[in-house]
Amino acid sequence: MTTQDDPQGLLARMTLEEKIGQLNLLAAGEGLTTGAETSTPLAKRLDAGEVGAIFGTKSRASTRAMQERAIAGSRLGIPLFFAEDVIHGHRTIFPLNIAQACSWDMELIRACAAFSAEEASSEGLHQVYAPMIDISRDPRWGRVAEGPGEDPYLASCIAEAMTRGLQENNGGRVSACLKHFVAYGATQSGRDYDNATMAWEDLLDIYLPPFEAGVRAGAEGVMASFNAVNKMPMHAHEPLIEGWLRGTAGFDGLVVSDYTGVKELTAHGIGTPEMVVARALHAGIDMDMVGEDYLRHLPGLAENGLDAPQIGLSISAETIRGLIDRACLRVLKFKALQGLFEDPFKGMDPLAPTPNRKAGRALARKAAAGSCVLLKNNHLLPLKPGQKVALIGPLGSDRANMLGTWSVSGDARDVVSLEDALRSQNWAALTTAVGANLVREKWMVDRLNVHGVTVTPDPRDEAELLREAKAAAEAADVVILAIGEAKEHAGESSSRLCPDLPEPQRRLVAELAAGCTPVVAVVFAGRPLALGQVPEQVDALLYAWHGGVAGPEGVTDILTGAAEPTGKLAVTLPVHPGETPLSYATEPTGRPFPGHFQKFLTGWLDLDDSAVPASYPFGFGLTYGHVDYSDVVADVPGGGEDGMAEVHVDITNTSERAVTETVQLYISDPEAQITRPGRLLKDFRRVPVAPGSTKRVTFEITPEMLSYHVAPSLAEARKVWDPGRIVVHVGPDSRATKSVEITWGA
Ligand code: NOJ
Repeated sequence: MTTQDDPQGLLARMTLEEKIGQLNLLAAGEGLTTGAETSTPLAKRLDAGEVGAIFGTKSRASTRAMQERAIAGSRLGIPLFFAEDVIHGHRTIFPLNIAQACSWDMELIRACAAFSAEEASSEGLHQVYAPMIDISRDPRWGRVAEGPGEDPYLASCIAEAMTRGLQENNGGRVSACLKHFVAYGATQSGRDYDNATMAWEDLLDIYLPPFEAGVRAGAEGVMASFNAVNKMPMHAHEPLIEGWLRGTAGFDGLVVSDYTGVKELTAHGIGTPEMVVARALHAGIDMDMVGEDYLRHLPGLAENGLDAPQIGLSISAETIRGLIDRACLRVLKFKALQGLFEDPFKGMDPLAPTPNRKAGRALARKAAAGSCVLLKNNHLLPLKPGQKVALIGPLGSDRANMLGTWSVSGDARDVVSLEDALRSQNWAALTTAVGANLVREKWMVDRLNVHGVTVTPDPRDEAELLREAKAAAEAADVVILAIGEAKEHAGESSSRLCPDLPEPQRRLVAELAAGCTPVVAVVFAGRPLALGQVPEQVDALLYAWHGGVAGPEGVTDILTGAAEPTGKLAVTLPVHPGETPLSYATEPTGRPFPGHFQKFLTGWLDLDDSAVPASYPFGFGLTYGHVDYSDVVADVPGGGEDGMAEVHVDITNTSERAVTETVQLYISDPEAQITRPGRLLKDFRRVPVAPGSTKRVTFEITPEMLSYHVAPSLAEARKVWDPGRIVVHVGPDSRATKSVEITWGA
C-alpha cells in the first residue's frame, strides 16, 4: 500500500501509464459483471490500474467491490474516489435548487446540503457534483432548475452555503464540485450545450462571482462546462481555468471534465482527438470523464509531443509529461485530502447504520414550504378547516414528477402526493378531478418519459375531462388547481422554445376561472414559466416548483397556514415567453421602457399593456401578513470620504400574523464608467416581525458593493468603483423599493 507516501512521493514512484490511469474518470454503468457474469469494460480497466475515480455507484456493496478491484489492480495500491450527482439531495430529495434559492434562507440551504452530504458519505461517496451555481436568466434553458437563479449576489451566498454544508463534517462530509465552469446558463437561445458570447464584464460580474464565492468557501473541485465562452470551448479555456480560476480566484483543488467534454472539443471544431487532449490538459482539465481520450492519446503525446502548426500549437513531449504530472498530483492530493489512503473503504460497510431519514424528511418538508413563492392572494389563503375542497389538475395525485429533475438516487415512492397530503387535513370534503392532461402531444409525452414513465395521459377526451372538473369545482367551496410541468420538462437537454404553461392546462384554468368557485393555482415546475393570463384568472397563486419528497406536504403547510409563506423569486417570471432572456438587472437604455407600449421607446409591440403590471419581478413574494416600509434614511459620516455609509429602514408589521420579511438592498450607479445594470442586489436580511411591531434594518454600504469590472479583454480586466453619486434602494422585491441618493467617497 501507499499510505506511507505523501502525494509527491507517490507520484515519483509511478510509471507514466499509472499516472495517466489516475486521470481517467468513468461511470459505474453496469458495474463489474454483466448478467452473464463476464467482466465489463470497467472491470478490465480496474484490473489494469487504468481508472482514477468512478461516479454513479448505486450501493455500498458495489462501491466496495470496485474499490477492492481497483486496489488489487494498481501496482501501488492506489484507491479510487467515488463521485455522484447529488444535486438537490441524495436519497432524500429536497426541493429543486431553483426552489431552494427562492427561500433566500442560507441556513436552510446549508442544512439541506449537509444532510445530503451525510447520506452520500454514508454510501462511500467522496465527491458530489454540486453545487450547481450557473446563473441563468433564460427560462428556456431547462437546467435553470438545478441552479441558483438570476442574480450574482444571491447565487454567491448560495454557493457558499451549499459548499459549507456539503464539506462540513457533521455526521459525514463530501467534497463539493462547483459546476459548470462557466457561463453554461448563458447559452445561445437557452439551448442546452450551445455556446455563450458576452462582454467580459458580464462574465466577470455576473457568471464568475458564484465560483469565486464557492472557492472562497473551500470547494475542493470544479467541473468544466460544455459551452464555449467567447469562442473558446471551456474544456480548452486555459485563461479561465488556469488563469482566472487558479490564478485570480486561488482555487487549489481538482478540475474534472464534464461527460465526454474533452472528446467533444473535436466537434467544437478545435482539433483532432489528439490535439484536443493536449489542449484540454494544458488548459487545466485534470480528469477526463467517460470519453477515455486521455487514456488513449496521452501515451503518444507524452512520447512525441504535439506539433500542430495549422492552429499555431506546439507542445513538447517534456511539457506534456509535466502536465500529466501536474494533473496526477492534483488527483493524488485530492485522494489524500479525502483520507482515502488511510481508509479506502469508508462508508462502504453494508451493515453500517444509515442517516436518520425521518430527520431528513422533516427538513425536506420545511425546505419545501420555505421554497414556495406566494404570488397572489385575494384573501383566500390560508384555507379554513371545514371547507369543501376540489383538487383539480394533472399534478394533484402525482408523485414522480414532484421529485424534480436530476434526482438520480431519489425514489418516487417516498413522495406523498398533494392529494394524500390534503387528505390528512380537516376538510368537510375532498374531491378530485384530472381536469386536463399535462401536455397534448404524444411525442411530447414520450420525450418526458425518457427516464421512466412519469406522465400517463388520461385517455378520455378533453371535453369530458373539463366537464368532470367543472362539476367538481361547482360542488366545492374552493378549488386547488395543481398544474405545471413534468420533471423532465426541465433539466438537462430539456430546453423549451416556449416556456409557458402547456396548452391543455391553460384551457383548464380558463374554464375554471369562468365558474363561481374561487381557485388557488399551485404551479409545480422546474423553470420560471411565463404564466400569461393565469395570474388574473385565479384568486390565489402559489409557485411551488418541484419540491422533492415532501414537496406537496410543504405546499399543504402553506395552504393551511401551518407554515407562513416566506419565499421570494430568485428569478423573474416572464409575462410572455418571447421576453426571454430576462432579468431585473438589465442595463438602462437611452429609451427606457415606460411600463406600457410607446412607439420609439424600448418595449414589445405585441405585449398587451394590461399584462405588464401582472408580472412578477425578482425578489417578489407575498406573506400572509403585511409590512410597511418607512423611507430609506442614509447616514454618510464625514461626507463618505472614508468609504463608510449606512442606510436604514423601519419595517412595521401592520397585520395580525407574524411574518418573516426579506428586506432587500439594491444599488444603482448613475454616473459610471460604462453602462451598468439599472440596479443590483447587494445585501438582504430575513427579519422576523411580530404583529404590530416595528424593526429597524440597517445595511452597511461598502466600496466592494460598488466595484465592478471594466474589461476590454480578460487579460486587461480591472476592478473600479466610482466615487460620487449612488442611489440606494430598499424594499420587499426588486421593483417596489424606496430610494435614497447619497454622494459618497468623492
Ligand atoms: C453531465 C452533466 O452536465 C453534469 O452536470 C453531470 O454532473 C455529469 N453529466 C455527470 O453525470
